[in-house]
Order: sequence, then C-alpha cells, then structure tokens
Amino acid sequence: MAKENQGQTRRHFVAAGGAAVAAAALRRETLALDGGPKTVTFPMDRQIALSRWPRYGPAEKQALHALIDSNRFYEELPAFEKEWQEYTKSAFVKAHMNGSSALTSMYFALDLPPGSEIMVPSYTFFSTCLAMRFFGCVPIFIDIDPRTACFDLEDAKRKLTKRTRAVCVMHSWGLPCEMDKIQDWCKEKGLILLEDAAHAHGAEMQGKKMGVWGVMGIFSFQTSKVMPTVEGGMGLYQTREYFERAAAFGHYEDPPKFPADSPVRAYEGTGFGQKYRMHPFAAAIGRVQLRELDALNAKVEKNVRALNDRLTQLPGLSEPRLRPDQKRVYYYANMLLLDEKKAGFRRDALLKALQAEGVRATIWDYPEQHKLKIYSEAKWWHHPPTIPKSMPGNEQVNKTHIFMPLLYEDAPELVEQWVRAFEKVWAHRERLTS
Ligand SMILES: Cc1ncc(COP(=O)(O)O)c(C=O)c1O
Repeated sequence: MAKENQGQTRRHFVAAGGAAVAAAALRRETLALDGGPKTVTFPMDRQIALSRWPRYGPAEKQALHALIDSNRFYEELPAFEKEWQEYTKSAFVKAHMNGSSALTSMYFALDLPPGSEIMVPSYTFFSTCLAMRFFGCVPIFIDIDPRTACFDLEDAKRKLTKRTRAVCVMHSWGLPCEMDKIQDWCKEKGLILLEDAAHAHGAEMQGKKMGVWGVMGIFSFQTSKVMPTVEGGMGLYQTREYFERAAAFGHYEDPPKFPADSPVRAYEGTGFGQKYRMHPFAAAIGRVQLRELDALNAKVEKNVRALNDRLTQLPGLSEPRLRPDQKRVYYYANMLLLDEKKAGFRRDALLKALQAEGVRATIWDYPEQHKLKIYSEAKWWHHPPTIPKSMPGNEQVNKTHIFMPLLYEDAPELVEQWVRAFEKVWAHRERLTS
C-alpha cells in the first residue's frame, strides 16, 4: 500500500473508531421518550426567533414610510419590476397582485384553443393546475421524481397526448427541476415550456435563474415564500407577444404603452376584464427584500449544510438530490427523506422520538391536486381531466419526508444539539422498532 494511502486508511480507521465510541456513549443515554433528559436544551424562544418568518425590519418600515410620505405610490411598481428584471435577466416582467393572478395571466397569454392540455405536477398549489380552466385548458397530472420532489420527465413522456400543448413545471421547495432535459424534450415535441417558480427565488441552473428557462414563468411573493411581500406575484416573459398579452389581461392601463403594432394595444381602458395590479406597499417591501435575497439564501444554505452534512451520514436519511450544475434555495423548510428499510424503523416512531428530544421535526403532505373534488367534476372543464390511479412519486415523498426548520441566523450550538438528538435516536434504533 502506498504511504499516503496508509495515512488515509489510518485516519479513516481513527474516525470510524471515534464514531463507534460516540455511538456507544449515546446508546448508554436514555431516550427522552423513555424518561431520559432532552438533548435539545437551546431555549425555545430563541429557536423560534431564529426561524421567524417573514423577516421584516427597519429597512422595510422605512421604505413604507417613505412611500406614504411621497404620495407617489404607483411609481414603486415599475421600479420593482426593473430590479426584478435585472436580477433574473428576464426579457420582460410584470408585477401582479399574487402568484395565482400571474399564473392566470400566463395561461391567458398562451391563447390556446379550448381543449388544449397542459402538463402540470399534481404535487403543487392549486393555481398551477386550476387557473388554466378559465381558458378551456385541461391539466395532465405528472408525477414527481421521489429523489427530488420535482417534475418527473419520464412520467411526462408516458402521458403525452395529441392535445398536449404546454408543460408547466414547479421547483418544489426551491430545488430546480432538470430544466435542460425538460427544455430539450419540449423542443423535440413542440411543447411550450412554462415555469411555476413560486418556491424558487434566486435558484439557478447552469448560471441561469429559475423563472427564465420557460417562455413564461411566475413567482409568488406571498408571506411564506423565499422573498415575501405579504402578497404579491411576478410574471416573467421571454417574448414580447406573451408579455403584452399577459400584462393586458389584468392591467387595463398597459395597452396604450405598447408599440403601435401590438395586437393588444386596442384594448386600452379595459384590458381583458381583470384588475391584477400589485399593491405598491408590496412592491416597496419587495425592493428591500430583493437587496437581501442572495445573502439570506446563502445564510440559510450554510446552516442547512452544517446540519445535513452530518445527518445524511445516518443510515436511511438523505436529502433531495441536487445536480452539481444546480443552485437551490430553501422554501419553507429543510426537507429530509427517510428510507424506513435502511433506517430500520418507521417515520412516525422517529418523529415521536425526535420531538421528545426537543427537535421541532414535522411533516406536511402536499395535497395531491388530482385527488381533489374539482378535477373529478366534468362540468368545470372543457373535457374531464384524466385522474391517475396512483402517483407513486407524490406518495413516496409525502410518506418519507421530514421537515426541519430553516435557520435565518447562525446557531452552531442549536445545530450541534439537533445533530446529537438524531444520532442519539439512531443509536437506539432497536428500541424504535419495538
Ligand atoms: C407552487 C405555487 N404556485 C403558485 C402559488 C400561488 O401564489 P399566491 O399565493 O401568491 O397566489 C403558490 C402559493 O402558495 C405556490 O406554492
């Protein structure tokens, strides 16, 4: 054996030996579930403060006061749009009152013949799938890949129909879908690629932001989102035609601003019947939040890495797969996936044991859209959507995930206690199966 390899092997042996000693020590401790001391002693009020969301402070208050004093409310909208356009490098953008109205405008802009079908995940918020209904379009429910919780291209290939015209993907929990492969397939099949990027502010793939891979994309700035403005949304458009149609749908004041040859210019004063303007207070908050977006995403990621790099050493515990050319962000929580067979115990037993140790581990199942009433009633649709018998990807992610809170400030002591709590529970694996 080469000398340097000998050194490596020795180091490995020492590390493995150290881990075994630590595991043996943890095994001697009593689980909190069985009356032992809680591992997490970090004060709960400080834990809650570290995960508090949304995070508004003096800068947001000052921006709102300044706007009120200025009395020039609507100037805030083009200012926010310009900054978001520069950040995402989108050809065109339009602020909307929320993500759902941005989706509705996007589906209107498609101008597809009634009966057209659009592929969407079932693991998503309702407006991804439902807003198309107003324009006679019908969803085709596509499964998610259980390794990523994102759009399963192989399932889409199986479900392509003669009526399929577009694909709208959703970047679950801030993890980008595999946009290069999806884009190639859409090109090959002549499908329009759309993005619901409501979870993915600042996420990228191959250096390109989410929201601009599709010919149209949307963001939500609702309170829980990665960049919250309480309520708010944004549409991103890569062609002038789509931008003008989407903007004219809910912005009656926009058509006269378009060039003379715009097909929607004549709809001055009415648009197409909706009023979807963003509240200027939301735009003011958004401008402040955008300035901090990358720094806050980086802080969250650093804390997730400090935790997950250790937790994913435990048998059966993994995190959603990320390609090296993807940069994800974290929306809502840090999702971990449990393989019960490899771990040797059930998720409910794990959650009980972790919660007893003082870890705020939770679960939250995304309601699968295809199971909801509205999709089963033909009267709401041009033709009834096909309801899949099962969606194994959705089911697996809903059955195997664990959510850990995100930390918006550095808290190495808390992370260490969380790690110790997981390791302690794993050290008592046999007890959890009983
Ligand atoms: C995936 C997804 N799409 C769209 C939306 C709609 O956004 P909004 O709540 O701003 O209408 C949401 C919001 O929860 C969402 O999670």
